[in-house]
Amino acid sequence: MDKRYHLLTGTDVLTYTWIIPPGDLIAVGELFVIVDKGTKTRYFARVTRMAHDEKTGGVLVFGLPIGCISQDGIFRKPRTIPSLYSPVRALDAGENALLLGFMGELEVGFMMSGNQRVVDLPIGIPASVLNQHLGIFATTGMGKSNLMKVFCASAINTRNAGILLTDPHGEYATGPPGDPNSRGLVHHPKAQDGLCVFTIRGQDIAGEYGMKPLQIAHEDLNIADLGLVFDLTPSQYEVVNLLLPFATDEIIDFFINEDVESLPSHLRTTAYIGNHQDIAQRVRSAPPDALRLVQRQIRTLLDLTALFVDSSSSSLPDILRALDENKVVLIDIPGMSDAAELFILSAISRAIIRDRQKRFIEKGSAAASGRVLISIEEAQRVLSQRSEKTGVFREIAMEGRKFGVGLGVITQQPKNIDQRVLAQMNTLFVMGLADRHDREIIASSAKHDLRVLDTEIQTLDMGDAVISTVGIPFPVSCHIHFFEDYLDALWESAS
Ligand SMILES: Nc1ncnc2c1ncn2[C@@H]1O[C@H](COP(=O)(O)OP(=O)(O)O)[C@@H](O)[C@H]1O
Ligand SMILES: [Mg+2]
Repeated sequence: MDKRYHLLTGTDVLTYTWIIPPGDLIAVGELFVIVDKGTKTRYFARVTRMAHDEKTGGVLVFGLPIGCISQDGIFRKPRTIPSLYSPVRALDAGENALLLGFMGELEVGFMMSGNQRVVDLPIGIPASVLNQHLGIFATTGMGKSNLMKVFCASAINTRNAGILLTDPHGEYATGPPGDPNSRGLVHHPKAQDGLCVFTIRGQDIAGEYGMKPLQIAHEDLNIADLGLVFDLTPSQYEVVNLLLPFATDEIIDFFINEDVESLPSHLRTTAYIGNHQDIAQRVRSAPPDALRLVQRQIRTLLDLTALFVDSSSSSLPDILRALDENKVVLIDIPGMSDAAELFILSAISRAIIRDRQKRFIEKGSAAASGRVLISIEEAQRVLSQRSEKTGVFREIAMEGRKFGVGLGVITQQPKNIDQRVLAQMNTLFVMGLADRHDREIIASSAKHDLRVLDTEIQTLDMGDAVISTVGIPFPVSCHIHFFEDYLDALWESAS
């Protein structure tokens, strides 16, 4: 071997450089080990960029140190540096096994070293980080939904956290619509035990897959969520605030059955003769236009959700119980509008956090220790800088951790998510993101500094992710399993 190659030629604590012969293939993201001959410390590094080396004609490689292991076998942040001309080589099986030791239970894919899948190094997220919020960022078509499906499949397998997700596209339960061969979470070998689907689909399909009918009662809803789904004027906010002390089923009953035109106002002194004297009294001072608008919006929402919202029956107790039992709870609402989806996701999320807070106060932290992840697609809808649009989700982002409730924030526009919310997220999946500004926002809010990985992040293919989590001491590159293939593997290991 030429003495100039595969030896460390330059080092500082933040970058290692070495030269490889011309013609040798190397890729951004590839992992290497540098062994210090004197101390026997092994330094791990990943390739961040490369350039031609004029002197030798080879390729000058730049590596980012990710950690080191000294004789005592403990993995540390690299605070020391290997000596000059230490040999640089690929990881051996033992070192892969060592990295495997950092992985958590919720498997999502295989480690990528450059362009190679390292099949003896499956990547998993520890369930213990789920209450510390998780972000999935990718441009459309890069594999966010596939990742969520794989993540849920792992959760169904391991049963160590509850996951809630709403699905207005009908793609998670039985697979993307239109393809008769497509499969979804109901086809998981352990779906019977670990999956609970609440659906608005007809009895035929629901019965075939053991889905339960979704039902939300008026009292489960919250009038403040009007602000989440509609752009309210200041006087409408005034009406909403006036209504806050009343139970939602009464408010709804009032607005469905009464004609707000006929309410006694300052000008009209005729007596109100309906069933809701207290509500009528309270809102009579509000501007009539705002009252009419609020009435119309409530009626619109009830029309949109007429399939599953009514005055009495509620699936909420069942949903909370399933999450407590560490199941994946899928709210299957194909074709449901944006507004309606948000309205009920908010209702369910509020029920979850209130229930946990109550148990926390009554029984202490231990009672609320099980973890729940609430997943929100297109999360910029409810976690933007506009605080009036954030509702209960902002509260969960800020305080959910204490109660074992985390958010799974899925978006293609991380720059439109409130920075303070991003800063709360301890696990990030960065997938293909076309927009530089989006990448910068993510890189600077991750727990590991991802700015040096920008080249790698720019070159991510569909299904690739750079994962940064407090559960693993260094950022990992991963190819997410293709859901259908992962299902096959789960069936194989189940039989
Ligand atoms: N990890 C992966 N391996 C192979 N194919 C993938 C992977 N992730 C996504 N795909 C393919 O890309 C398509 C789009 O993925 P999807 O998860 O729907 O993207 P998004 O939700 O980000 O728009 C899917 O139909 C799937 O075929
Ligand atoms: Mg999607």
